[in-house]
Amino acid sequence: KFGVFTVISVAPVLAHPSWYHPSSLPWAPSGPNDVRGPCPMLNTLANHGFLPHSGKGISAVDTVNALNSALNINQSLAQFLFDNAVTTNPAPNATTFSLENLDRHDILEHDASLSRADYYFGDDHTFNQTVFDETRSYWTKPIIDVQAGANARLARVRTSNATNPTFGFSQLGTEFSVGETAAYIIVLGDKTAGLVNRSFVEYLFNHERLPTELGWQRPTDQITTSDLSNMIDRVVNASSNASGGAALKVRQVDAHSGFHR
Ligand code: HEM
Ligand code: MG
Repeated sequence: KFGVFTVISVAPVLAHPSWYHPSSLPWAPSGPNDVRGPCPMLNTLANHGFLPHSGKGISAVDTVNALNSALNINQSLAQFLFDNAVTTNPAPNATTFSLENLDRHDILEHDASLSRADYYFGDDHTFNQTVFDETRSYWTKPIIDVQAGANARLARVRTSNATNPTFGFSQLGTEFSVGETAAYIIVLGDKTAGLVNRSFVEYLFNHERLPTELGWQRPTDQITTSDLSNMIDRVVNASSNASGGAALKVRQVDAHSGFHR
């Protein structure tokens, strides 16, 4: 009854080979035994099954395969991100991480997120509509350019600075914060023009699902570490051009100072 064809039909779902197209993968939100975290993209990749749907036990190979097959991110950038992610696993000599490990404050997770509240306010990892509405109000046109991306991030920094008495950034936190703005532009948009459809970005944050049904496609050109660092430079430059951007000073915190969970 369960012949060879049954086996063949489930094999791609289990293995996610690199030729497998995102739109043909099943998508399902997290269930009661699954974990998710503060990264809308990794949550998305787990929902699609590019990463383990559980959100747990994510290895370097899982990360490299998922970021390549879903997003055309090259191996060295994916490995770099994994190497950072694994530092959030409190287990000694860990070789995997879970999406909830990423919640740990002031390792990679930082204040002034685009869609999550600050750790001080109690939940640094669940999508927060109020926070995201502030961010969205700076994406004033249907196409987000580098300046609009930078403005949205700066606004969140200003708000956190004004409302959170513990507000601060580690060096790595700063890099991640700017890198995340760069990442949504590069991965969901055009890395040369520095433009991305606002609808794609909002869809990703709102649904934790790739915006394929809106017309987004896996980038045809591989995304490299230099693509990311170039876009980070453009976001930083746009931030110093923004009103009050250059003058904005934030308290520096030590990385790993906040091992709270
Ligand atoms: C946020 C980790 C890949 C986009 C975050 C955060 C972490 C994280 C820890 C939370 C920072 C915070 O807001 O406090 C990772 C790791 C990755 C990865 C370890 C790879 C292994 C990606 C990719 C994208 C992306 C490929 C592409 C779009 C974002 C965005 C945010 C974010 C836009 C900001 C969310 C917000 O501010 O509310 N990521 N990420 N990430 N990540 Fe990722
Ligand atoms: Mg945060």
